[in-house]
Amino acid sequence: MNRTLITTNDGSHSIRIDAMDETYHSIHGALQEAKHVFLKEGFYQSEDAVAILEIGFGTGLNAFLTMLEAHKCARQVEYVAVEKYPVAEEMLRVLNYGTLLHEAEWFDELHVINWEMRVPLSDYFALTKLQKDIADIDFEPRFHVIYFDAFAPDKQPEMWTPDVFEKMYKALLPGGILVTYCAKGQVKRDLKAAGFIVESVPGPPGKREMIRARKD
Ligand SMILES: C[S@@+](CC[C@H](N)C(=O)[O-])C[C@H]1O[C@@H](n2cnc3c(N)ncnc32)[C@H](O)[C@@H]1O
Repeated sequence: MNRTLITTNDGSHSIRIDAMDETYHSIHGALQEAKHVFLKEGFYQSEDAVAILEIGFGTGLNAFLTMLEAHKCARQVEYVAVEKYPVAEEMLRVLNYGTLLHEAEWFDELHVINWEMRVPLSDYFALTKLQKDIADIDFEPRFHVIYFDAFAPDKQPEMWTPDVFEKMYKALLPGGILVTYCAKGQVKRDLKAAGFIVESVPGPPGKREMIRARKD
């Protein structure tokens, strides 16, 4: 699949897949979207140590931001990221997240570590990258937060099925939350059917709403 580097409106990069007519992030700003959807509405919903599951590691932007924030507020983070189609090294090397956030070495580290093993990257942040199809994994209930960052439902509907949401529900601890940039009515209904309490919260610039769903 042909992946092209693009620059979004806040100056941060993203990737476009021409064949799918889809981008990895909002064209209004990859960095500001990630900060809003996953950090503000996900990571910062509590102040404790946290286990995070990310669906769709992609460029590693969400993991990178989370690692930086974990240090800023001295919070222990256990981060598990699932990715079926890792981004090629040549593409990762040109992404500007490390330089924009003045932590280029840390960004590179996320990508050089091996897949399928837990790697403590610092005193606060341990990362496990799984190169797998989400359809082939079942999780124990051990996560506080899920960053659900799949391609849009109309581009990759198999990621947004009731089966996947039931899997996500099982992966969460009681009180745990799933956040996604998506705000579609059908997604809300399917999350409710899987057992979630679903909330619409304000979205990042360019998007009125997003979803935060909680396991009771
Ligand atoms: C919207 S992009 C993710 C963006 C990513 N969080 C980032 O910040 O770069 C969706 C990601 O889901 C991955 N993906 C697609 N199908 C998948 C599957 N069946 N299982 C796991 N990951 C999948 C894609 O390869 C892509 O990296």
